[in-house]
Amino acid sequence: MIGGGYVGLVSAACFAEFGTEVAVVETHPGRLATLRKGEIPIYEPGLDKLVSENIEAGRLSFGNDVAAAVAGADAIFIAVGTPPRNGDGHADLTYVFAAAEQVARAMTGYAVIVTKSTVPVGTGRRIAETVRRLRPDLAFDVASNPEFLREGNAIGDFMKPDRVVIGTDTDQPGGTERAQEIMRRLYRPLYVIEAPILFTSLESSELIKYAANSFLAMKISFINEMADLCERVGADVHELARGIGMDHRIGRKFLHAGPGYGGSCFPKDTLALMRIAQEAGASSRLVEATVQVNDARKASMGARIMSACGGSVRGKTIAVFGLTFKPGTDDMRDAPSIPIIHRLIENGALVRAFDPAGMTAARPLLPKHDITYCTDAIDAATGANAVLVLTEWNEFRAISPDRHRDLMTGKVVVDLRNIWEPSSMARAGFDYSSVGRPE
Ligand code: UGA
Repeated sequence: MIGGGYVGLVSAACFAEFGTEVAVVETHPGRLATLRKGEIPIYEPGLDKLVSENIEAGRLSFGNDVAAAVAGADAIFIAVGTPPRNGDGHADLTYVFAAAEQVARAMTGYAVIVTKSTVPVGTGRRIAETVRRLRPDLAFDVASNPEFLREGNAIGDFMKPDRVVIGTDTDQPGGTERAQEIMRRLYRPLYVIEAPILFTSLESSELIKYAANSFLAMKISFINEMADLCERVGADVHELARGIGMDHRIGRKFLHAGPGYGGSCFPKDTLALMRIAQEAGASSRLVEATVQVNDARKASMGARIMSACGGSVRGKTIAVFGLTFKPGTDDMRDAPSIPIIHRLIENGALVRAFDPAGMTAARPLLPKHDITYCTDAIDAATGANAVLVLTEWNEFRAISPDRHRDLMTGKVVVDLRNIWEPSSMARAGFDYSSVGRPE
């Protein structure tokens, strides 16, 4: 496994748990030292236990030597980062090709080289060309095996996936079967639980990943627009989501209205899909609209909060519950909290923020002044004019509103994740507003 980042580490630990011997190559010295001690540099429930148990069982090891890891391997996974390239929407493949070259030089015999990183269509084929150029002597295949796991639920998603997608090079006579056989062996435990394993061409597999994330992002932008419409016409977006979601063709999931999607995947992958379509001369208007709706939504949340606070937040103290882009992670990448808090502070608010996991990651991304990091949600609410919910952590749901009401100096609650019921908040004496529901 080349790359001990989020995807590499989760995949390595899960393959090891499946009974496979996995050697992870991590070149960052600090990260490597941490991993070797069985400690986890990321926040992912259950991963620390899985990693330490598999190190102890001798199935999982960490090192920085590509040659040692690659020698004798049946499958070599490339799971290095693909950050967006200087803002042009393209995925930066520098690390992917650097890894492919190192792997090619180190291989000692047949192996299937698998991309786990999210890579643009055509990358698998380009990796094959690179390896062939460097090692014309070598028999190998390339495969694409995109990752669909969600942060915070990664192990469950890996162990009980809706599907596993494996793309192989259908132009290589014979190679496909050999590569498929190795991949089947790796995922054997999933056959027992009858998880669907879908074999496709390389290009289909690469595109499936972008299409899946773009479709999910589109569902969120759709329900967010519906939430605005519900507010205008007096409908309830929860009833609407249930009512449309009961149609199996639509499905109930990913229809929670909120402040817009964030994270390391949807924003990056929607832009990348647009670029892929543009270069291929195809249209991607729905995905473009998805991105525009999401950007506009994040930008408009500040005005919504100001209006809930009587038109201005100047001199007011706002308690912010939750900073990460979603619960169950410490990840702040593209979190809606970033533009929202900047806007509030620019408009004269004082912010008291709390997040159960994201405070360290949040600090460098939020304004340096007029923000206090609190020890818990109750501490944040103490003396605040308004409470603002930005991430739906379960521990916030569990707080009885009566508890913070008496500690606040104001009565405004702006719940952008709909974690409380409007009727009980009104009964508790709050001036409560949420997303897409009658107040
Ligand atoms: C997403 C996909 O769900 C995974 O299948 C995929 O593997 C991953 O990207 C990836 O490409 O690596 P993730 O970014 O961890 O996973 O987070 P999600 O749970 O999908 O949430 C993304 C954003 O959408 C969050 O900001 C969340 O608050 C928002 N969201 C999600 C909504 O606003 N409403 C919903 O109904 C669902």
